[in-house]
Amino acid sequence: MTDSSRAIGVDLGGSGIKAALVDTERGRLLTERVRVKTPGPAEPTAVIAEMRSLVNQSAVAGGVTTDADVPVGVGIPSVVIDGVTVTAANIDAGWIGFPARATLSEAFGRQTVVLNDADAAGLAEIRFGAGAGRSGTVLVVTLGTGIGSALFLDGRLVPNLELGHVEIRGRIGEARASAAARIRRNLGWERWAVDLDEYLHRVDALVWPDLIILGGGISKQADRFIGRLTVRPPVVPAQLQNNAGIVGAAMHAAERAWAERTAERTAERSAEWTTTDRTSERPTTEPSRIETATAERTSETAPGEPIAPHARDERTRPISSPASS
Ligand code: BGC
Repeated sequence: MTDSSRAIGVDLGGSGIKAALVDTERGRLLTERVRVKTPGPAEPTAVIAEMRSLVNQSAVAGGVTTDADVPVGVGIPSVVIDGVTVTAANIDAGWIGFPARATLSEAFGRQTVVLNDADAAGLAEIRFGAGAGRSGTVLVVTLGTGIGSALFLDGRLVPNLELGHVEIRGRIGEARASAAARIRRNLGWERWAVDLDEYLHRVDALVWPDLIILGGGISKQADRFIGRLTVRPPVVPAQLQNNAGIVGAAMHAAERAWAERTAERTAERSAEWTTTDRTSERPTTEPSRIETATAERTSETAPGEPIAPHARDERTRPISSPASS
């Protein structure tokens, strides 16, 4: 296993915070999942203290305490733009406008990326789960404390889609149809499936996906409700269930770290070549152009921007291959 294939994934949910060291090439947990209850109120200082402890526990369990190159990915139920959490639907309002990436990187002492929790779960499900190998428009809907949504077009994520907040008969969709709403409203599976179906019909009318994948812990009980749904596109249960958020956050961290390392090496090599060019020991043309093109592409993975699952394959092509130009 290479360095870039391990990362610690953290998933902040309404009821629990979970973490593990992940083999991001296989989508598997390398350490047992550690979990604590989400502090109430779920404000940044209390949450970060718990996350820090979970990250340390995962690093100890995975034998990577001294390996500072193992990065961390954190999924948060918030819209995340440039590492800043800008909304807070099921967490404390203290996360609004909070510099999450910078604060967490410092707290963990490791390179850290932050992304929306449903985007993280979706990335894992599209790479390793029910969406693997699927092209077209795939919508991953996670049913938990709220409703998360992640939209993929040919495997590439459209980040920060907030379809849990679509309004239905005067209330936001997640207030009726999330897994927590079923319990809070004391609904049986049949009655709840009617509300979930209405919600999915509304979402379908807005997005028209080719496939809907239903995730969240409740997907373990999919046979109790999926058969009752009448929505147009096929609906299938997620396969990674409770681990999707951890795996996807870790994948994003590993890919970001890998892209940054590649960009650094490319820049170093370009600098070396430029120096050599000046001493006229090397032709100045073709290699420099190839390196520049590669550096430009890797820099597309801007901080906070989830990376498409297939992007890594493209970046792993040898620098001089024609496909990389
Ligand atoms: C939040 C989303 C989140 C979803 C699932 C919603 O209330 O607005 O950002 O992905 O809950 O946790």
